[in-house]
Amino acid sequence: MERLVIDGGKKLKGEITVQGAKNSVLPVIAATLAADGVSVIHNCPMLCDVTAELDILRLLGCEVEISGSCVRIDSTKATRCEIPENLMREMRSSIIFLGSLIARFGCARVSVPGGCDIGERPIDYHLALLEKMGVRTVCGCDGCLRCECPDGLHAARITLPYPSVGATENAILAAVKAKGTTVIENAAREPEIADLADFLIKCGARIDGAGERTIIIEGVKRLEACEYSVIPDRIIAATFMSAAAVTGGKITLRKVCPEHLAPVLPCFEASGCAIKSYSDCVTVSAPKRLKSMGVIRTNPYPGFPTDCQAVVMAMACVADGVTVITERIFENRFRHVAPLRRFGAQIETENNAVAIIEGKESLNAAKACSTDLRGGTALVIAALAARGRSEITGLHHIDRGCERIENCFSGLGGQIKRLD
Ligand code: UD1
Repeated sequence: MERLVIDGGKKLKGEITVQGAKNSVLPVIAATLAADGVSVIHNCPMLCDVTAELDILRLLGCEVEISGSCVRIDSTKATRCEIPENLMREMRSSIIFLGSLIARFGCARVSVPGGCDIGERPIDYHLALLEKMGVRTVCGCDGCLRCECPDGLHAARITLPYPSVGATENAILAAVKAKGTTVIENAAREPEIADLADFLIKCGARIDGAGERTIIIEGVKRLEACEYSVIPDRIIAATFMSAAAVTGGKITLRKVCPEHLAPVLPCFEASGCAIKSYSDCVTVSAPKRLKSMGVIRTNPYPGFPTDCQAVVMAMACVADGVTVITERIFENRFRHVAPLRRFGAQIETENNAVAIIEGKESLNAAKACSTDLRGGTALVIAALAARGRSEITGLHHIDRGCERIENCFSGLGGQIKRLD
């Protein structure tokens, strides 16, 4: 079994380039199916979810070539509109193929997606908005979904019950080639939504307001593939910042978008970290001992991101005082609490929604297993802070979000190795 062996207590120092955003590249890759010709996507992180998605595209008939962080996708020969269950279940974001398959073929056969076990994660918003656009879905008892669009896709006025990221992306993907003008109200405003829209606009789509509450999309007959570079990963940037913070280090992040980090900066500042941003760089310099961060509540963008909740909790474990974190997006996103306690962290939870963390001066080394993508990264951060040798298993979770995490941290002076 693969594991990370970490000798904690070393200050992280130096510079690191941040990978492209996983949550951008996944919908952008799915969107290439809706465009004619060869798409070239740059700044693509080579993560398991990305390779799983490229496997799906190959299976649908696309030609895919990978060269470093650049992916070339020729969707000309795509003929299939069916994704087998085993591939759908490999990752949550496979549901994003629904919009692009329907935009391309007018039909889709998929199954209920998999992904991290951080909550129920239904897809009712996705199906409801597609229905409004003329898609009929039959759900089999085995979790299989058959979507058809007998009269073609048409525009609709969609009001999302909640600003769901995935549902907003599917609405955009379906609307770009639908007949008429679609309005999406209460849309998600995450930077990854604007990134998907920017890719599609480069392909010839007419989209206005992506990144805002209301998005207006005028359907076009055809999209032409283009060359595009995805935005930097703001969640990974915050992860590196947390690691610098818990080790009392000082690091500079390169190739980031400081504006996208605005929702997390107040908590780093509250912890006593000094943050400097200039152009596409951010430097974080940690105090000797972190201060508690008060009350943090996760919320849709521009609120504090749920994906940063776990790594910030790892910071709170060594901060002076009490930090209270409320998780408001997913109902089961405290699975990292139990393994964090193995490091000696003092965390109480209420209703699986509120965590009260009393920071300790230091953590002890521990053996712990990742429970989910971001939770696993939080364990690595705890291990970097702890005194002594820790071991983290369950690396397949961590690898879904961060490219070779051991190289990232060892490049910053962390003592971390991956062993079989
Ligand atoms: C995306 C991100 C994930 C992030 C999350 C919230 C990707 C690949 N993943 O996930 O990293 O944690 O946004 O920022 O971009 N919901 C429903 N019905 C639906 C859809 C969603 O009830 O049909 C609920 C979910 O259960 C959840 C909330 O809405 O409670 C938000 O989920 P959503 O924004 O859709 O998350 P994802 O797109 O799955």
